[in-house]
Amino acid sequence: MARSVALSTVFVFASLTCAILRVECQPKVNPLVVQQELLWESKQYTYRIPVIAQTPGSALIAIAEGRKYNSGDTGSKVVEIRRSTDLGSVWSPAVTLLTDGQFKLGVNLGSVIVDNVTGVIFLWFEHCLESQHYCERSAPYLMNSTDDGLTWNKPRNMTGVVGGATKFVTGPGLGIQKKLPPYKGRLITCGHGDHLSDGVFCVVSDDSGTTWRMAGSVKSIPFGRKKVDGDFNPNESQLVELPDGSLMVNMRNQLHYHCRCRVVMRSRDGGETFPLDDLYMDDTLVDSGVHASMLYHRGVLFFANPASSTKREDFKLRWSLNNGTTWPGLKTLWTESAGYSCMTVHDSVDGAFLLILYEKGRSSEYQWIEMMKLSIYGDL
Ligand SMILES: *[C@@H]1O[C@H](CO)[C@@H](O)[C@H](O)[C@H]1NC(C)=O
Ligand SMILES: *[C@@H]1O[C@H](CO)[C@@H](O)[C@H](O)[C@H]1NC(C)=O
Ligand SMILES: *[C@@H]1O[C@H](CO)[C@@H](O)[C@H](O)[C@H]1NC(C)=O
Ligand SMILES: *[C@@H]1O[C@H](CO)[C@@H](O)[C@H](O)[C@H]1NC(C)=O
Ligand SMILES: *[C@@H]1O[C@H](CO)[C@@H](O)[C@H](O)[C@H]1NC(C)=O
Repeated sequence: MARSVALSTVFVFASLTCAILRVECQPKVNPLVVQQELLWESKQYTYRIPVIAQTPGSALIAIAEGRKYNSGDTGSKVVEIRRSTDLGSVWSPAVTLLTDGQFKLGVNLGSVIVDNVTGVIFLWFEHCLESQHYCERSAPYLMNSTDDGLTWNKPRNMTGVVGGATKFVTGPGLGIQKKLPPYKGRLITCGHGDHLSDGVFCVVSDDSGTTWRMAGSVKSIPFGRKKVDGDFNPNESQLVELPDGSLMVNMRNQLHYHCRCRVVMRSRDGGETFPLDDLYMDDTLVDSGVHASMLYHRGVLFFANPASSTKREDFKLRWSLNNGTTWPGLKTLWTESAGYSCMTVHDSVDGAFLLILYEKGRSSEYQWIEMMKLSIYGDL
């Protein structure tokens, strides 16, 4: 604790010095793993789709799907939550948040959005209604917690919001609340789907989560038609807000359009539009077609995924000091099997920590869901 206080004093002092000298500088990012905790182990159920968030009361919540009868995306599931009030050292036992009973067609996560103004936590998820091969038709749902993630209210059917789309799944990961103009305070999360929502679409709320509507999107090509390998088909996504108030969405490039790497889009109007002029493929962010995590914190853009063009393995953390233009920072976190991830940050007098929840294993990437805690500046 004493050292943490000293570190944050160093940070403040360094920031002041930089401000006086009018130079851009900041403590050197040097992520150091300080804790690893296996939060779920696949035994009877297969645990997948990790989501981690910091609550308004600075607790951590970790959420995952427990797939009951097989590891496939459709099918019966439980959604479980664990909570930590001491920055990830001790976690509550897993509690069932959602269960779809014995249905063949199950629920899927989903993104968490924390409204830091009202203190309400939202969870978007979908419930599959029809499935031949994978879920072809589903209904999106939204539920909330007003007590820091301890209890959750009855889910609301949000089908009306997605304008007749037959399928709309957010994230998985974190939606965000805009901290800067335009649309400061806006809640936003992006999702993918099929048919009417074929591409990546964002939903927004400007009244603290009471009403929602579809905002900007990037559609797939060819739109609404069967795709072949190489087509433009953005899929699961994670968004962040950059220091100019613009939004960056990093997406899974499902059919490897242009590269086996990530697709990135930007919005400068709070998610109303995502101009094609600002869309690019980030060749450095090599990816096999999987969900990845991204987070912006104090001038640093972090990105994590299984960094292989062919396999879900070799889980790496990268960081950029120029909004993702180049990625000089690289740290391997796990060389064997790894899959989806989600990350959040905790920054206080206790220190600055990145908390990553990810699918990990030896024989398969679905063996465990691990929380990894890293000290961002390498100090404790
Ligand atoms: C919420 O607000 C508090 C106080 O301003 C801040 O310390 C914290 O980082 C914020 N959390 C998020 C998730 O923005
Ligand atoms: C939370 O969910 C409950 C039950 O669906 C709903 O009545 C309430 O309006 C929601 N709160 C917010 C802030 O959206
Ligand atoms: C959800 O709402 C849609 C449209 O309002 C409706 O068609 C659907 O049946 C609802 N789902 C459930 C499970 O009630
Ligand atoms: C997007 O990814 C999901 C998850 O793997 C997959 O089931 C789905 O088929 C993909 N959607 C499209 C439109 O390719
Ligand atoms: C990052 O984005 C911000 C906001 O657009 C801008 O002020 C800054 O110059 C950018 N940094 C770099 C290195 O591009």
